[in-house]
Amino acid sequence: MQKRLFIKTYGCQMNVYDSARMTDVMAPLGYMPAVSAEGADLVILNTCHIREKAAEKVFSELGGIRRLKRARERQGGRMLVAVAGCVAQAEGEEIRRRAPFVDIVFGPQAYHRLPEMVTRALADSAGGVLDTSFPAEPKFDYLPERLAAPGTSAFLTVQEGCDKFCTFCVVPYTRGAEYSRPAADVLAEARRLVEAGAREITLLGQNVNAYHGAACASGPNGGEWGLGELIRALAELPGLERIRYTTSHPRDVDDALIAAHRDLPQLMPFLHLPVQSGSDRVLTAMNRRHTAHQYKRTVERLRKARPDLALSSDFIVGYPGESDDDFRATLDLVREIGFAQAFSFKYSVRPGTPAAEAEDQVPEAVKATRLAELQDLLQSQQRAFNQGCVGTVLPVLFEKPGRHPGQLVGRSPYLQAVHADSTPDRIGEIMPVMIHAAAPNSLAGAIIARPTAKEECAA
Ligand code: 5AD
Ligand code: SF4
Repeated sequence: MQKRLFIKTYGCQMNVYDSARMTDVMAPLGYMPAVSAEGADLVILNTCHIREKAAEKVFSELGGIRRLKRARERQGGRMLVAVAGCVAQAEGEEIRRRAPFVDIVFGPQAYHRLPEMVTRALADSAGGVLDTSFPAEPKFDYLPERLAAPGTSAFLTVQEGCDKFCTFCVVPYTRGAEYSRPAADVLAEARRLVEAGAREITLLGQNVNAYHGAACASGPNGGEWGLGELIRALAELPGLERIRYTTSHPRDVDDALIAAHRDLPQLMPFLHLPVQSGSDRVLTAMNRRHTAHQYKRTVERLRKARPDLALSSDFIVGYPGESDDDFRATLDLVREIGFAQAFSFKYSVRPGTPAAEAEDQVPEAVKATRLAELQDLLQSQQRAFNQGCVGTVLPVLFEKPGRHPGQLVGRSPYLQAVHADSTPDRIGEIMPVMIHAAAPNSLAGAIIARPTAKEECAA
């Protein structure tokens, strides 16, 4: 009998990928994706623990899910509720205590066992299932092939976990130790994605450029491949027009990766390279293991290899002990580098991480003032970057219908959303677009290509 599965995803792109794979593992049991939690047989919240606010959202969402579960029971049905992802990993016991109606709690490394957990939960109406182990078996070996068509742009996880232990960050605890998938597995999955219609693949990993997977048997290098070698092999896949990767660590940008940016037109000229702070004192306290100067030098080398490279970054303001001078150093770094876009956050205390113990926490009001100032600067750089595209022609990979009828939306090489009037048959195609307007978060333009053969025939 067909059952309905609803997954709500929070946080990073890796969670988006994981949610899609959860759908795949449940399909053989008859669970089909549903668009809402109402009336679903299984509801999964795939959660994010990176900042306090992200984690709190889960508990407020669970209030609503509980009401839907009770309504389902009043109608004589049953709804299983599961909490997955990093909040589940970090606060599994707390979830069981605060929300005892949750049937299953499981961490990011255990979702290949979901069918078994669901079967157990269905058999045992009182107990509940908790699996926040770090299984010895890599889950990727136990996941079925993907079922849903990937669309024009697909995510592909190549690396997971993190061994860097930045002092503010929960990821090494929730996602566990660094693990790289063998290159042959990545290439096989990429090939299937391209055959199913993907034109662009974004390689995912918490520390994606720390990738060091077993080399492909047929490849030129023995032993292990880094991300540069992996991208080089992917660039040989016919039909794969664009390659991206995220998220990178400045320390792991090596010569092979820089060379890939220099040599491979498929590797898009946009890089998310978090720096967090421009102050060496703060960077040291954060255990980032690089200085502001080293970051700038890395950017310089990347830009030399790929002069049109656009940069994005993450910033934290108000890290414990951050002084006004430290914060000024961050503003200086931003001015010196110039970012096409960025994410910036107030430092958020994460229990269990070293920075949470620090005594010199920065007052909320100071954090708020600094964040506003930094965001002003970053937004003005983003606006200037977008404005600089007006009057140029950008190749746009169209992905889906736009908000207005007769319009499509796609991405420029620099990851900007671009709107243009077009017939839907151009979804999945890369078209040259003359940009005529820039908004803070998107561009608008007109396709300038010659009419398609079909239109020529009709004319
Ligand atoms: N507080 C604020 N921001 C954080 N990030 C990670 N941990 C914290 C924290 N405790 C930010 C970093 C990271 C991004 C994904 O989230 O900037 O790069
Ligand atoms: Fe967190 Fe640092 Fe690892 Fe990034 S590199 S996931 S910020 S510990």
